[in-house]
Amino acid sequence: PMKQRLLVVANRLPVSAVRRGEDSWSLDISAGGLVSALLGVRDVDAKWIGWAGVNVPDEVGQRALTKALAEKRCIPVFLDEEIVHQYYNGYCNNILWPLFHYLGLPQEDRLATTRSFQSQFDAYKRANQMFADVVNEHYEEGDVVWCHDYHLMFLPKCLKDFNGKMKVGWFLHTPFPSSEIHRTLPSRSELLKSVLAADLVGFHTYDYARHFVSACTRILGLEGTPEGVEDQGKLTRVAAFPIGIDSDRFKRALELPAVKVHINELTQRFAGRKVMLGVDRLDMIKGIPQKILAFEKFLEENPEWRDKVVLLQIAVPTRTDVPEYQKLTSQVHEIVGRINGRFGTLTAVPIHHLDRSLDFHALCALYAVTDVALVTSLRDGMNLVSYEFVACQGAKKGVLILSEFAGAAQSLGAGALLVNPWNVTEVAKSIGYALNMPSDEREKRHRHNYAHVTTHTAQDWAETFVSELNDTVVEAQLRT
Ligand code: UDP
Ligand code: G6P
Repeated sequence: PMKQRLLVVANRLPVSAVRRGEDSWSLDISAGGLVSALLGVRDVDAKWIGWAGVNVPDEVGQRALTKALAEKRCIPVFLDEEIVHQYYNGYCNNILWPLFHYLGLPQEDRLATTRSFQSQFDAYKRANQMFADVVNEHYEEGDVVWCHDYHLMFLPKCLKDFNGKMKVGWFLHTPFPSSEIHRTLPSRSELLKSVLAADLVGFHTYDYARHFVSACTRILGLEGTPEGVEDQGKLTRVAAFPIGIDSDRFKRALELPAVKVHINELTQRFAGRKVMLGVDRLDMIKGIPQKILAFEKFLEENPEWRDKVVLLQIAVPTRTDVPEYQKLTSQVHEIVGRINGRFGTLTAVPIHHLDRSLDFHALCALYAVTDVALVTSLRDGMNLVSYEFVACQGAKKGVLILSEFAGAAQSLGAGALLVNPWNVTEVAKSIGYALNMPSDEREKRHRHNYAHVTTHTAQDWAETFVSELNDTVVEAQLRT
C-alpha cells in the first residue's frame, strides 16, 4: 500500500454535485473511464482536486458544497459559466478531444472555431491556473501531485513555476496523436513545453508515448532518448502505463443476491435470443453509428437471426452543451428508429437504445448476461468497458468484438475479435462469427482476456506510476 500523500488533480471529480437547496447538495458518481479507474485504486492516502460539474455562483452554496465534498476526500475548483463555456466546452471538448482522436475540427464551424481559438486557449490557461491555485493551497512538502488528462496540460508548468521542488506527474487518458496531427494546433509548442515541466509523463500505450516524444523532437527541436525528452540536461521521463480495472469489485458484485435476481430477470426477458451489448458515452469517438449500421447489415444478410438476437445499447449522455454531441444524438436516434421500423415486429425490436446511465449493479448484471459485446471506437485511449465485460464473463464466456483503434486492442487482441469499425462489412461478418462461435473457442479466447484483466489492475497501474515518479525525482537529484 502507498503511504505517501497523493494529490490527484483531474478536471472531473469522482462525484458530481446536484443542488437540492440553498445550502444542500447531493452527490452522484461521475461517468467515464478516468473516474472508474481512479475509484478502483485502494489503500492510498489520496485527496482529489477537481470540478464538481456545476456552476456555484454564491458563497453559501460554495461553502456547503466544499463541506459535502470533504467527506469524500474531494476539494472543489469553482469554475464560472464563462470559463466552462470557453475552457471545457470549447478548448477541451471541441478542439483537443476531436484532434487527439484524429477526428479533426467539426466540419461546419471550422472557421468559427479558428476565430475563437485564441480566446478559448486563454481561458484554458486561466482555468489551469485556477486548478494550480487550489493545489498550492493544499500541498504539503513531500506530496506527490498527479495531474490527469487533456484538460490539464498546462498544470505541470503552473505547479513547477510556483514550487520547483514539487513532485509532479501527468497522465493522458486519451490517445496522443501522430506529431503530424499535433502540429496543426496553433498552441502546439506551448502545450508540449508545459507538459514537459512535469517529472514524469505517462500514456496508456507505447505508441502514444512515442508520438509525444516525436512531437517534442520535431516541433520543439529537443532531444528524444529511450528514457524520455531532454532539454538542456533536464530530463522529462516519458513512459507507457496501461491502465486497468478493479476486477474483484465486479466479481464481488456478481455474487450479491440483488444482482443475481437481476441477472435472472434479464435472462428470462431475453430467453431464446442472443444478447449483444454496447456501453458507451454518447461520443463521436465511440463509433456508435458505425456499430448500428453493421448490426443492420448483419440482420439484412442473415434473416434467420432477426428474431433471435437483440442489441442493447447504453448511450450515456455526455457534454450535452457541445453542438457536435447534440448532432450525434439525433443522428443515432434516426438510425435506430429506421432499423427498428424495418426489422421490428409487433412484439419485439432488434435494438434497445437507452439514453441514460446505469448504476454499477445494473451494469454488472448486463455485462454478465451478454453473449457478444461490441466496442467499435474509432479511436479510444484504452476503453475500460471492454475490460469490465471480460471481468463479468467468468460463467458465460461470451465474445468481445473490439476495435483495433482502442488502446485495449493491444492487451485484449489475442482473445477478442479485432475489427476496423469503418469497415461495416467486416464488423457484420464478425457479428455472425461471434454468434456462431463454438464453445471451446469462446472459452479459449475468454481465458486469455480474463487472465489479463485480473492481473493488470487499476491498483497496479497507480502504484507503478507513483513509484516511477518517486524514482524519477530521486534520479534527477543524483544527476545535479
Ligand atoms: N459507465 C458509467 N455509467 C454508465 C455506464 C458506464 O459510469 O451508465 C462507466 C463504465 O463502467 C466505464 C466508464 O464509464 O468504467 C467508461 O470508460 P471507458 O474507458 O470505456 O470510456 P470513456 O467514457 O472514458 O471514454
Ligand atoms: C474521458 C476523459 C475523462 C472524462 C470522461 C468523461 O474518459 O478521458 O477525462 O472525465 O471522458 O467526460 P466528461 O467530459 O464528462 O468529464
